[in-house]
This record gives sequence, structure tokens and C-alpha cells, in this order.
Amino acid sequence: MKTAVFIAWIVFYVSALLALRRMWTGKYVRSPLARALFVSMVNEGDATEQFQEWYHCCLVKLGEDVRPLFLQSYMDQDTKAFLRQSEEKSGWMFTQLYYSFMSTVLSPIVSRTSINGFLGRGAMFVFSGDQFRQLLQISSDWQGDRLLDLGAGDGGVTAVMDKHFKEVYATEVSTPMRWHLQKKNYTLLEVDGWQNPGFYDVISCLNLLDRCDEPLTLLADIRRSLVPGTGRLLLAVVLPFQPSVEVGRKWQWPKEYLKVKGKTWEKQVTHMSKRALQKAGFEVEAVTRLPYLCEGDMYHDYYVLDDAVFVLKPSEAHDTELDS
Ligand SMILES: C[S@@+](CC[C@H](N)C(=O)[O-])C[C@H]1O[C@@H](n2cnc3c(N)ncnc32)[C@H](O)[C@@H]1O
Ligand SMILES: *[C@@H]1O[C@H](CO)[C@@H](O)[C@H](O)[C@H]1NC(C)=O
Repeated sequence: MKTAVFIAWIVFYVSALLALRRMWTGKYVRSPLARALFVSMVNEGDATEQFQEWYHCCLVKLGEDVRPLFLQSYMDQDTKAFLRQSEEKSGWMFTQLYYSFMSTVLSPIVSRTSINGFLGRGAMFVFSGDQFRQLLQISSDWQGDRLLDLGAGDGGVTAVMDKHFKEVYATEVSTPMRWHLQKKNYTLLEVDGWQNPGFYDVISCLNLLDRCDEPLTLLADIRRSLVPGTGRLLLAVVLPFQPSVEVGRKWQWPKEYLKVKGKTWEKQVTHMSKRALQKAGFEVEAVTRLPYLCEGDMYHDYYVLDDAVFVLKPSEAHDTELDS
């Protein structure tokens, strides 16, 4: 009897999902024609214009100090490859049904991040290797000693940077995500045990500032842990800035409040550079606009958020200010 109910429930669930999917297909871009167009767009070279707005910055709206530091990025081969793969994967009906089913079963117990980590889904893309090198102004054979990727997720983004460093360190709160990082042979550090004065050449803090409880303490710790003079912080922030922290399966307000003002991407970048980042003792060396891409599901080919990616160096003025 129990088994029959269970099977009936699964059948109901699957058919509900299929119906839902059909609904979406009709209403939104899921029509075969739009899909085919999308695929060819991503495949062909001249798609670039279609995606231009992801990278667009209205320079006159940027503050005068930041304007010369803006770096224009473009859709490149690696980004296209990620989109193509994501699009393809979202079409695998049974994989997606399995993901959706497992998410529903697990969501009352664990956080979304951990579900993704557990299922090995929800891959993220911030920048390609070329975009990373362009940001840091390094050549393809540049070698540094130590990289620390804070809140590294499944390590997909870490992997884009790792070949440039002898040692790669990572932190992550979610246990299934930590398994992924271990599998990739990164040295896992505790969330409160990575701080080490003057130790890291590059610290990346990608899409973490709005997801952690103490963003101000984090920035101060990063500043102290960079190699003096040459150390750099690579900071990606999702704009508009909407902080919230994942605690188990709930979302909460963070303990520390990092203020970001402005209605547009440009205004928020300007405000951050002049206020929060400067206050934390960082000087902007470069900033670019990139789409933060996440693998899709059965309803979407992919998800996209708006990232501001900063290259920051500890400012010297800050030291004297603190000393006096
Ligand atoms: C939005 S994801 C970003 C993942 C990856 N860095 C990227 O850019 O795609 C944020 C990650 O930070 C982790 N996280 C949250 N608070 C953290 C903390 N205090 N220390 C380390 N990781 C944290 C979360 O588990 C989650 O995997
Ligand atoms: C991790 O290290 C082990 C042992 O040194 C090695 O066998 C394995 O291939 C490495 N894995 C990766 C992904 O580099």
C-alpha cells in the first residue's frame, strides 16, 4: 500500500513538472524556434552584439576617479562554451527531473548551496582565464606563490585561476562544496582559520561579500593577509547589492552592514569605490562589468546576475592614517 502511494506520488510529481514545463515552453523563450536561435547565436561569432549589454558600462555615469580604471570586457570563447554547455544540460529531461525531485526532497533539510554541491549541479562562471589575466595584467605564463579563494563554492571558478599559483587555498562553509574542493586538491582552510599576515599573493573573494555575516571584518582580514606591496584582492560583487546570509535553509540579515548606495550599476560601483572599499583600506586598480552565470534548470537555459569585478590593492594612505 505504502509503495503504491509513493509511486503514485512520483507519477503525479513528474507529470506536474512536465505540465509546468510545457506551460513555460509556450509562454517564454522555450519555443523550439527561439531555442534554435539562441543556440546558433551562442555558436556563431556574431552573437557578440546580442550579449553586449552584459558588459556595458555608461562611462559618463561613473565617478571621475573610477572612470579611467574601467576595463571593457567582452563575450569570449570560454564564456560561450559555458553557455552552450549549460543550455545543453538544461535540455536533459531526466537529469533535470532527478535534480528537481532531489531538491524538493532535500530542501526542508539542507541549504540550497549544499543541495547543489551534493547533486554536483549549479556550476558558476565569473570570468575566463583570459579575462582573469587581463584584469590582473599578467601574462599567460605568470607564476605566483599563493592564491586564496574565499567561499570558493565547487571550485569551478578557482580552477580558472589555479594554474598561475604554486599553492592554492580555499574556504567554504557548505560541506558538500568542501568535498568538491578537496577532490580538486585545494588546501582547505577553516572559515575562521585562513588569516595569515602578508601571506597570499592574490585573494579572490567572488560573490561572497553579500553572502557572509561579517563583510567588514572579512575585508580587514583580507587586507592584512596580502603580501605587502604586490598583494591584490580580486573582488566580485553582485549588483544591486542585496546582502543576505544562508543559515541552514533560512536566509537572514548579516551581522555587519556594508552600505552601497545608488540606483544603477555605475552609481553603485562609484559609491563602493569611494566609500566602503576605501574605508576598508583598498584602492581600486581596475574594475570591469561581467555577467555572473549559473547553470540552468528545466525552466531556464542559464541564470545571469550582474557582477562588478574589482582589482584592489591595499592603499598606503590607509596605513599612515591608522598609524597616526
Ligand atoms: C554565491 S557563492 C559564490 C561561489 C564562487 N565563489 C563563485 O563566485 O561562483 C557563495 C559561497 O560562499 C560560501 N560562504 C558563505 N559564507 C561564507 C564564509 N563566511 N566563508 C566561506 N564561504 C562562505 C557559500 O557556501 C557559497 O558556496
Ligand atoms: C590530487 O592529488 C592526488 C595525489 O597526489 C593525485 O593522484 C590526483 O590526480 C590529484 N587530483 C587532481 C584533480 O589534480
